[in-house]
Amino acid sequence: MIKLLVIIMVNFLGVASVWASDGGPIPLKHASINLADKAALYRGAETFLAQCATCHSAEYMRYGRVATDLHLTATQANGLLPPHLKLGDEMVGFMPNDYAKAVFGTVPPDLTLIARVKGADWLYTYLTSFYADPAKRWGVNNAVFPGVNMPDVFAALQGVPEPEFTSVKLPDGTSEQRLIGIKAPLVPGSMTPAEFDTLVRDLVGYMVYMAEPAKMQRMNYGPYVLGFILLFTLLMFLLKKEYWRDIKSTIRSE
Ligand code: HEC
Repeated sequence: MIKLLVIIMVNFLGVASVWASDGGPIPLKHASINLADKAALYRGAETFLAQCATCHSAEYMRYGRVATDLHLTATQANGLLPPHLKLGDEMVGFMPNDYAKAVFGTVPPDLTLIARVKGADWLYTYLTSFYADPAKRWGVNNAVFPGVNMPDVFAALQGVPEPEFTSVKLPDGTSEQRLIGIKAPLVPGSMTPAEFDTLVRDLVGYMVYMAEPAKMQRMNYGPYVLGFILLFTLLMFLLKKEYWRDIKSTIRSE
């Protein structure tokens, strides 16, 4: 039995470390988002529609659902809407597929569910880990998605970070430059690092909400469910005491 448990533990740790290493050469940073902060999710929605929706769709989400879930005012909701669309419409992409194929060699994937596939920490690290690489088509590469074909959409806000390499000796005697991290940009962006960080965290929060809107409701139910369990435990405890009082008095009287 103990052997079996050890095998299960080792396997689990193995799988967990493969997941953790999914990030590529640099460790993933913790996104620490707060789905209860509706103002932050709204700012994230604004950033998503302004910075990402030009290339990516989120076609399993409707504008109206965002407005309801985030308790937006009519002005805020209409502010999110592109001019030709209605609240009931899905967040479809604006870039024709054949145009995207011609420019990027691929169609930018739909992002509705991406947070469920990649996780918040991966998204947060990905969006903050573009770095200057003049050999690449868009002049940038990414530390957790090497060779990615997406331009650095935050270059103006963040500046373009510089890569940090180390020289690694290979078994055949040659050496190779390997990425170990990224450094501050040579030319700073229009936002301070702290402002930029908040912008990306809010955006990732919105993407996590979008991938599973019911999570917010589940979290709201949480305290009630725990309260019910506590109350139920207390009732059962009192009931047990009541039963045993009877049993004990029967035994005593016999
Ligand atoms: C100029 C067009 C463009 C914009 C704007 C853009 N992207 Fe991308 N994005 C792409 C392309 C093209 C790819 C596919 C890259 C590849 O497969 O090499 C991509 C890939 C991605 C991926 C990886 C998806 C996967 O399958 O692993 C994520 C995540 C992503 N983008 C998020 C964003 C977010 C968030 C924004 C807004 C801040 C954004 N993108 C803005 C073009 C864009």
